[in-house]
Parts: sequence; C-alpha cells; structure tokens
Amino acid sequence: EKDKELIRGSWESLGKNKVPHGVIMFSRLFELDPALLNLFRYKSNCGTPQDCLSSPEFLDHVTKVMLVIDAAVSHLDDLHTLEEFLLNLGRKHQAVGVHTQSFAVVGESLLYMLQCSLAQGYTAALRQAWLNMYTIVEAAMSRGYTK
Ligand code: HEM
Repeated sequence: EKDKELIRGSWESLGKNKVPHGVIMFSRLFELDPALLNLFRYKSNCGTPQDCLSSPEFLDHVTKVMLVIDAAVSHLDDLHTLEEFLLNLGRKHQAVGVHTQSFAVVGESLLYMLQCSLAQGYTAALRQAWLNMYTIVEAAMSRGYTK
C-alpha cells in the first residue's frame, strides 16, 4: 500500500506532462543503447536521436508508452486486468523486432527520468516501488513473445 501511494503521488504531476517526461526517458534509452534507434523506422527516419525526438511518429510512440504507464498506475490494485493487453503489446513488439532484454533498458530509463524529475523525491523506497510495478508490466509484455 505504501508502494502504491509513492507511485500515485509521484505520477500525479509527471502524468500531466507525458511528452516531455517521455522524451527524457527515451533520450536516456538511446544513450544506453543507440542501436534501438534502428527499430523506429518511420517515414521521417530516426537516423540520430535528434531526428527521432523531432519526429511526430516517434513522439506519438513516446505518448503511447506513457499512456501504458498511466494505465498501470491507474490499475495498481488490479494489474492483472491489463494482462491480455500487455501480452498483445509484447507480441506487437516482437513483430517490430524489439528484444525482450531491451525492456529492462526502458526500465532503467524510466528510473532515470524519475530521478531527474523528482530530485529529492526520488528515494530508495520510491525507486523500488516503481521498479516493482514496471517489472510486472515488462514481464507480461515478455510473456506475449512466442518462441
Ligand atoms: C508500438 C518500438 C517499448 C508501447 C511500437 C512500434 C514500434 C515500437 C516500432 C510500432 C510503431 C508505433 O506505434 O510507433 C519500441 C521500442 C521499444 C518499445 C524500440 C523499446 C526498446 C515500449 C514500451 C511500451 C510501448 C516499454 C509500453 C510500456 C507501445 C504501444 C504501441 C507501440 C502502446 C502501439 C501498439 C499498437 O499499435 O497497438 N513500439 N517500443 N513500447 N509501443 Fe513500443
């Protein structure tokens, strides 16, 4: 319950500005693994992180990711209701060539964004609470992958 309060409390302000916070997260993702840029093959190509971050399709994806996080935060009491959606979402990522290992790098980038945005609010307990929730999302998406 304490975990849920920490997550909801911190998301209250972050969730109102999804795109800028998502951009911090994905900028970090490309620092940690620049090869992930190649998976965003939009018409307005993503040759460099800057290209990507100024592409409308990419910013749509940033918004999509933040909306999934928003859904998880809204469903902290019944995360299992998102299971089917997340399995299917995993399947779509398998189809576009994302490896399940990359989801862990997204998790690191999420924590980085929280650290930047919350400053002193980023405590060990808050970090762990977010990591626990994200790990559930990541695991469900990964279960959607077929061998
Ligand atoms: C769709 C890439 C992680 C949520 C897509 C698409 C690509 C992509 C190429 C299809 C084109 C598009 O909709 O823009 C990636 C890469 C990731 C990643 C490279 C990380 C390594 C995530 C994560 C989430 C997410 C962690 C959510 C927590 C979505 C959603 C869609 C999507 C909601 C739309 C699916 C649909 O069309 O129904 N992703 N993605 N993505 N992604 Fe990701």
